[in-house]
This record gives sequence, C-alpha cells and structure tokens, in this order.
Amino acid sequence: MNRGRFITLEGGEGVGKSTQLRALAAALEARGIDVVATREPGGSAGAEAIRSLLMEGNDDRWDARSEALLFAAARADHVARTIRPALERGAWVLCDRFVDSSRAYQGGGGGITDADLLALHGIGSQGLLPDRTFLLTLDTAEAARRLAVRDAGGVDRMGSKPADYQARLAARFAEIAAAEPDRWRTIDARRPADAVTAAIIAELESWL
Ligand SMILES: Nc1ncnc2c1ncn2[C@@H]1O[C@H](COP(=O)(O)OP(=O)(O)OP(=O)(O)O)[C@@H](O)[C@H]1O
Ligand SMILES: [Mg+2]
Repeated sequence: MNRGRFITLEGGEGVGKSTQLRALAAALEARGIDVVATREPGGSAGAEAIRSLLMEGNDDRWDARSEALLFAAARADHVARTIRPALERGAWVLCDRFVDSSRAYQGGGGGITDADLLALHGIGSQGLLPDRTFLLTLDTAEAARRLAVRDAGGVDRMGSKPADYQARLAARFAEIAAAEPDRWRTIDARRPADAVTAAIIAELESWL
C-alpha cells in the first residue's frame, strides 16, 4: 500500500479554500481515490476542543505566544489522530489550512519568528509537511465582497481583522510560497469556482 498524498489549501479569508476543498474532494473521489477532507484548527476531537478556545472570545484573549502554542498543540493532535493514520492507509488528505497559516498569521506580528513556529511544528507534529500546498490568491476587495455575501454580518475572532492586515497576510503567504517552490503552487482564485478547481487538478495530474 502506498502512502497517500497530503495536500493543503492556504490563503487569506474568503479566497475560496473551503469551496475548493469540497470540489477537490469530490473530483478525487470520482476518480476512485480514498479522500479525507479536514481543516484547521480542528480535524480531531482534541483539536476541535482547542479550536473553540482559539475561535471564541475577544481579539486579545490570547497573547501571540500562547496562541501559537495552542495552534501547535491542536495540529499535533490532528496529525497524530487523523492525518498520519489516513496517509498510512493510503488515503489522500486534503486540509483547509495547516502549518503555513500559523507561519503567515502568527509569524507576521507578535515577535514570533518563522524558525520558532517551525520548531513548534517539529516538536508537535514531527515536522510533517504537505506534499503539495496551493496558495489561493484573491485581491482583498473581492475577498471582502465574497465574505460579506457569505456571512451577512457575523464574523469569528480570526476573521475580524482589518483590510491592511489582510494585505500584509497575503504578502506573507506569497513570501513563504516563493521560498519553497517545489511544494507550493499559486492559483489565481478570482476566476469562477469550477475554473479554479480545474487549475488545481491540472497541477495534480502527474499523481493521478
Ligand atoms: N471562485 C469563486 N467565485 C465567486 N465566489 C466564490 C468563489 N469561490 C468561493 N466563492 C464564494 O465566496 C465565499 C467564500 O468562499 P469560502 O468560504 O470557500 O472561502 P474560505 O477561503 O474558505 O473562507 P474562510 O477564510 O472564511 O474560511 C463563499 O460564499 C463562496 O461560495
Ligand atoms: Mg473556509
């Protein structure tokens, strides 16, 4: 039995990660692939419990270091209980956000370096990295428009940051992706959803 492929979707809020994860899971299942679709923070019982701690409450509930540790702990449980077992039985794991979101969000402000975040990932998750990571790119105005339609009011703690924050985040993702071109593929997410899905699948064709 071959190990499955581990694929993650990254990018800022409202770029279409969850939409694409669903479409990609369906497309791969239609080709007979055993797919496990999951998301962060969460994806296992322990990690979902930590997710509640992270997503609820005021913006300043956690300082940056506590927050980074909680994300790393949630990811460790998710990797140990969900992701590694699935990959080992040959399933493909599709994950909506992973360690690169911690690097982009927590690594920007708060004085935590990328090396610190990768060290936490080394301890928690034995440094597991995806085989392929898709960065969905969308201008912040269009992302905000899509989110306004989707959410019509309520936002959670992670999605309540201003537009300049979203722009810095997009720049940080682009920087991380550029530093590791073998793992990353950048996908223009402004197109209709089915065109975006087709672009993602085209990048996976050699594995199918
Ligand atoms: N290519 C697209 N064109 C137009 N609308 C889209 C496209 N992809 C997704 N949408 C819509 O945009 C909204 C945001 O998409 P989605 O929830 O998939 O983004 P996300 O990246 O998962 O957001 P979040 O960061 O909040 O989890 C949804 O209402 C979705 O239906
Ligand atoms: Mg989503």
